[in-house]
Parts: sequence; structure tokens; C-alpha cells
Amino acid sequence: MSSKGDLASAILDSASTAIILVNRDLRIKYLNPAAEQMLGVSMLHAARAQLGRIIEKSSIVLKRVQDDIVAGRSFNQSEVLIVSKSGEHTVDVMVNRFEREGEEPLALVEMYEVNGRRRISNEIHQHSQQKAARFLIRELAHEIKNPLSGLRGAAQLLERELNEDQKEYTRIIIEQSDRLKNLVNRLLGPQHAEKRQFSSVHEILEKVLKLTAISLPDNIKIKRDYDPSLPDVYIAPEQIYQVFLNIVKNAVEAIGQREDGLITLKTRAAFKVNIRGSVQRLMVEVHVTDNGPGIPDDIKDTVFYPMVSRKEGGHGLGLAIAQTIIDEHSGKIECVSWSGHTDFIISLPVEKTPQDVA
Ligand SMILES: Nc1ncnc2c1ncn2[C@@H]1O[C@H](COP(=O)(O)OP(=O)(O)OP(=O)(O)O)[C@@H](O)[C@H]1O
Ligand SMILES: [Mg+2]
Repeated sequence: MSSKGDLASAILDSASTAIILVNRDLRIKYLNPAAEQMLGVSMLHAARAQLGRIIEKSSIVLKRVQDDIVAGRSFNQSEVLIVSKSGEHTVDVMVNRFEREGEEPLALVEMYEVNGRRRISNEIHQHSQQKAARFLIRELAHEIKNPLSGLRGAAQLLERELNEDQKEYTRIIIEQSDRLKNLVNRLLGPQHAEKRQFSSVHEILEKVLKLTAISLPDNIKIKRDYDPSLPDVYIAPEQIYQVFLNIVKNAVEAIGQREDGLITLKTRAAFKVNIRGSVQRLMVEVHVTDNGPGIPDDIKDTVFYPMVSRKEGGHGLGLAIAQTIIDEHSGKIECVSWSGHTDFIISLPVEKTPQDVA
């Protein structure tokens, strides 16, 4: 007959729920075998390692785990995406404070893998909604563009007939039509199909930094964390340049006048990436991270939609354009953000996709 302790450890060993104990610095104190499997590390390797180093893309949850250990609260969260050495997992997370007399308080983190299909179908649904919105906006932009040039032309003709004082009005019409034309052109997005080629993501990032440096305020520093061993990506370089430029520009604007602004550009290889249901063996992942105020809560779910902006004078197009371009590359763009931290993650292909080869 086994003792109570033996029985408890046998249950933990055979449970299919991943169970992890961490302290307030998120240092791992215990992992059961299901957690070892999910995180792709052994207890031996993980002992005293930081949970944040083992799982990525779930920083919001990690932050909550930390806050809740301190405050003694518990919390549940459904369908959290975590990425570990063993790949991507969608899990329901449950966190409870775990305390034994005379020992530091810990968090008992339970993760239960949910059927990934639900998350993917949500992703596909959201993606097709965004595509429909972008289509509508493009159609609308076309409709505006044609009469606009007629309007501008007519104002120019009229200008010739008017005296200097009256010309002020036609100039306003011309100026405003030009403004509208710029907006419409941005709404229409890239006009010509650019040829794809194998390109270095670092060269493109450096080009973006060169342009950004011209008007970068002194309070913002740029940090590079490149993996020089990465393969080239198969992309349309000018379009991907536009994507990074939009995102870096947003980061600069978000930091604004804040002291000690920092933008980090990090590149890494990513394995087994799920792109709307199909798994890519290898991709290059670019992180653009800033320590600005974070994406406002009320637009977190719609930040990639066109016309969503919380900026004075912003058109809400930068990210919508970025997403259109990344979609056309069969890549992925995601964002993780909270106050003081915003991370845009762009995954790009390293191989020709079947339609490119054809
Ligand atoms: N790094 C960031 N930090 C905080 N908020 C951000 C960040 N990037 C984007 N946002 C928020 O997302 C909104 C949408 O960004 P997007 O680039 O699509 O449009 P915009 O910057 O407002 O206008 P445009 O790019 O057309 O000039 C921004 O208005 C801002 O509120
Ligand atoms: Mg922008």
C-alpha cells in the first residue's frame, strides 16, 4: 500500500494537466511530466529557470501570475497561446496562490491544453472579417478617387477666371483634394505587384533605422538584437520595408516625449509556426518592441482594422496596410501589449510558397 505522499506524486506524474509551481520572480520550483512535455524542458533543466524564458507570447498572463502571487488572488484565463520549445499550445490557465508555512508564497499554475481548432477557427473568422473590411474600404477609395481628380481639375480651371482674393477659395479646394488624394492612395495600398526575392531581413531593418534616425528624438534609443545566423526571407522587399517602417513609426510616436524611450528590434528563427491552420516548419520572426504606454485597451482587438486610431491626425492605416502586406506573404503579424510594453511580432517565410513557385 503506497503512502499518501507516494499517491500524490503518482497522481501528479500521470495527470494530463500541466502543473507548474513558480515563485514571485517566476522562477520554476516544480514541473510535473505533463508540464515538462508542454514546455519542452525537463525539471532538471528548468530548475530555477524563469518561466518567461521558457514560454513566449504569454507575457500578459505571466504578469498576472506575478501580480496575483503578491496580491494573493487566483485567476482563470481561457485560450491563452503559449509558445515553448515543443511548439505552440492553446491552453486554459488556472492560477492559485500556494503557500506553506515558513516558505515563500508560490503560484500554482495549471494549464490544460484545449482543442487548438477553436482558436484557429476564430482566427480565420476574424481574418476574413478584416479582409472584408479592407475590401470595402478599397472599393470606397476607388469610388472617391475618380470624382476627386475631376473636382481638382475644375477648381484649377475656375482659378484662372478669378481675381486674387477669390483664388483663396479655389486654393483651399485644391489643397484639400490633394490631402484626400493622399489618403485615398494610402487606403488603396501598394498599387503594383512587386517581385519577391530572397532578402536579408536585417538589411531591411537597417534601412528603416536609417530613415528613422533622421528625425529620432534624443529621448529614444534603438537596440538591435539580431540573430546573424538567420536565413534570408522570401519577400517583396519594398513592401516589407513599408511594414517595418509603419511599426517603428508607431513605436516612436507611442513613446513620444517619455524619458528613456527604448525600441528593440529582435530577430529569431521560429519553428512550427501556425499560419491560420497550416504549420510552417521554419519562419523568421521579427519583434519590434517599445516601452511606450501600450495599445489603448479599447482598440486592442481591432488595432489591425483600417481607420482605427487613437492618435491626433492618425488615419489608422499603418497597421491595416502592414497586415495586408504580411497576409499576401502568407506570414503572420501579432501584437502583445500592456502598459509600458508593446511587442509587434512579424513572421516571414523563408521558402517559396506553392503559389509563388507556380
Ligand atoms: N507601438 C504602439 N504603442 C501604443 N499604441 C500603438 C502602437 N502602435 C499602434 N498603436 C495604436 O494603434 C493605432 C493604430 O495604428 P496605425 O498605425 O494603424 O494608425 P495610426 O498610427 O493612428 O495612423 P497612420 O499609421 O495611418 O498614420 C494607433 O493610433 C495607436 O493608438
Ligand atoms: Mg501608424
